[in-house]
Amino acid sequence: MTPVVELEGVCKDFGAYRALDGVSLSVRPGESVGLLGPNGAGKTTLIHIMLGLITPSAGRVRLFGLEMPAQRRMILGKLNFSSAYVQMPLSLTPRQNLRVFAGLYGVADPGRKIDELLERVELSEMADRPTRALSSGQLSRLNLAKAMLNDPQLLLLDEPTASMDPDIADKTRNLLKRIQSEKGIALLYTSHNMREIEAMARPAWAHWVRPAR
Ligand SMILES: Nc1ncnc2c1ncn2[C@@H]1O[C@H](COP(=O)(O)OP(=O)(O)O)[C@@H](O)[C@H]1O
Ligand SMILES: [Mg+2]
Repeated sequence: MTPVVELEGVCKDFGAYRALDGVSLSVRPGESVGLLGPNGAGKTTLIHIMLGLITPSAGRVRLFGLEMPAQRRMILGKLNFSSAYVQMPLSLTPRQNLRVFAGLYGVADPGRKIDELLERVELSEMADRPTRALSSGQLSRLNLAKAMLNDPQLLLLDEPTASMDPDIADKTRNLLKRIQSEKGIALLYTSHNMREIEAMARPAWAHWVRPAR
């Protein structure tokens, strides 16, 4: 089976500073893989390389058997991304925000899809209130619904539970695990928290990212 992610010897230099030094890993369809490392280890840089937002200084990046950056458009249609640092307009309702992204992604029958996802992330009751009324846990679930709109085969999650209370973080991890097993989506997510990686990934598939010195 073609891996959803294949990285070979990926390096990234910012000027004289080497942020990533030869990262190789692969993720198979439906697999859950955690990238564990302290702040500054290069986790976000690696996610941005997989999204084609940053060009690596060396190495090969293939997703779904397609080459980044040459086949970026096709790749981006098959994955999605969620980060605590992505903001949606707070004056729109969750339903309106999802409509905007559904339009961008070209989702067929968006109304039905949005209803299904709002239900899935337990936000149906908040769907028509301003997004600013959502708690941080609800906001992250809205981000997750956004990331599911295009039925991705791979979800890239950058610190999905950062800045959450422990109980909300637990709830979010459980939701992610349910979505992964129901839909067979591969998850690649980052964390600086060993316990989180233990809760989410099979230990053999936690990759340790060190700050390059
Ligand atoms: N655009 C950039 N220019 C210069 N240095 C950068 C840039 N982006 C990241 N870095 C540096 O690369 C290292 C890795 O950063 P980052 O990927 O954000 O780490 P993490 O997400 O693991 O906390 C850090 O030392 C950071 O300061
Ligand atoms: Mg980061």
